[in-house]
Amino acid sequence: TENRLWGGRFTGKSDPLMDLYNASLPYDKIMYEADLTGTKVYTQGLNKLGLINDEELAEIHRGLEEIKKEWASDSFVEKPGDEDIHTANERRLGEIIGKHIAGKVHTGRSRNDQVATDMRIYVRENLTKLLELVANFVTTILKRAEQEIDVLMPGYTHLQRAQPIRWSHWLSMYATYFTEDYKRLKQILERVNQSPLGSGALAGHPYGIDREFLAEGLGFEAPIGNSLAAVSDRDFVVETLFWSTLFMNHISRFSEDLIIYSTAEFGFVQLADAYSTGSSLMPQKKNPDSLELLRGKSGRVYGSLSGFLMSIKSIPSTYNKDMQEDKEPLFDALTTVEHSVLIATGVISTLAINKEKMEGALTMDMLATDLADYLVRKGVPFRETHHISGECVKTAEDLKVSGIDKLTLEQFQKIDARFGEDVKDVFDFEVSVERRDATGGTAKSAVLKQLANLASKLQ
Ligand code: ARG
Repeated sequence: TENRLWGGRFTGKSDPLMDLYNASLPYDKIMYEADLTGTKVYTQGLNKLGLINDEELAEIHRGLEEIKKEWASDSFVEKPGDEDIHTANERRLGEIIGKHIAGKVHTGRSRNDQVATDMRIYVRENLTKLLELVANFVTTILKRAEQEIDVLMPGYTHLQRAQPIRWSHWLSMYATYFTEDYKRLKQILERVNQSPLGSGALAGHPYGIDREFLAEGLGFEAPIGNSLAAVSDRDFVVETLFWSTLFMNHISRFSEDLIIYSTAEFGFVQLADAYSTGSSLMPQKKNPDSLELLRGKSGRVYGSLSGFLMSIKSIPSTYNKDMQEDKEPLFDALTTVEHSVLIATGVISTLAINKEKMEGALTMDMLATDLADYLVRKGVPFRETHHISGECVKTAEDLKVSGIDKLTLEQFQKIDARFGEDVKDVFDFEVSVERRDATGGTAKSAVLKQLANLASKLQ
């Protein structure tokens, strides 16, 4: 443990379990590149201050490059005393270029501004990648919706058949959710992309480092305006976890719909083999495991958010080791979301739909609202027509005919004299969906507008 970077004031040995308990290297090494980049730019800042000369800077950068290669080729040798990625990289730099020069890189810097910087770089990189994956997912949904615009299906409330809609309208609903996720992600990225570097441990930089220069060098929009906030703020982690949670909630509902639609009882969709599994016992089974995992994994992401919120709920300002607990939930959530969006994209692009089953599930009672609207168009107040249409449904049930469309004109007129010959035109699902051509509705023109509008937001 003589390796420790902070060993000067310590004489006693540490408990080996404490070393393990304290160490974050097993999981924060995933940020090695962000850490090396941070040090590269930081030492340029020190060079501008004259605290590191040009030859030393070149040596440092050479060493950092070498360390990067070691991590990338999995040949970096971790040593006892490497607490986290920051100490491991600095220790290794000393071995490569000598402790005399390596000993200068941390001048005026603390792991507190360092870790906040690394995390922001890492999160930015991952959210940028996710942005593209989500856009691709939405594009896949939109493409499908356009191709299958003519397919009708039942729309549900309370999971009870409600009104006929277009299958594409259902797809467009999820495309709407996921497009909002896309936009939300962009907004979060703006707040992630702020620079804590040059804040020191908490109080600020003692050599007047150019924080704007550091921010720019690392691609950040600007330095965070208060050094205490810079080292203590993990809101960007919370926002990322919240985004992930909400996204997974949408994924979960999307999956649940498709699980239901893929049952034999519905039979609207069939999953591709690539996203299904069989049963070890029942030979006939084809299970929608991909969708169940998407639904199930949403739970662990919710857990990451709520767990981390608990971890930080009453920590005093500024840095406290509790904050190290940001990493595992964050990394886990990012991986889960990345895999989930890829699986969901795969599922929706390979799914087969069964148009006959979808349209076969439409029943005439789903046009009861249209029947009420028919009388509205003849000048009858809607409250009244709602009641009349209800009576028609009941009469059809009492007479045990297969649907309201089977009532004779006489039977209709017995219920209300204002029914005319043209009432039969109501009983057409296509006519029903096409009536709903106001913005956002299920008519073909309205759905196509939605698709175009969503596509235009993905830039
Ligand atoms: N591994 C630590 C973390 O993830 C780095 C910061 C340590 N800072 C400190 N003052 N002990 O939070």
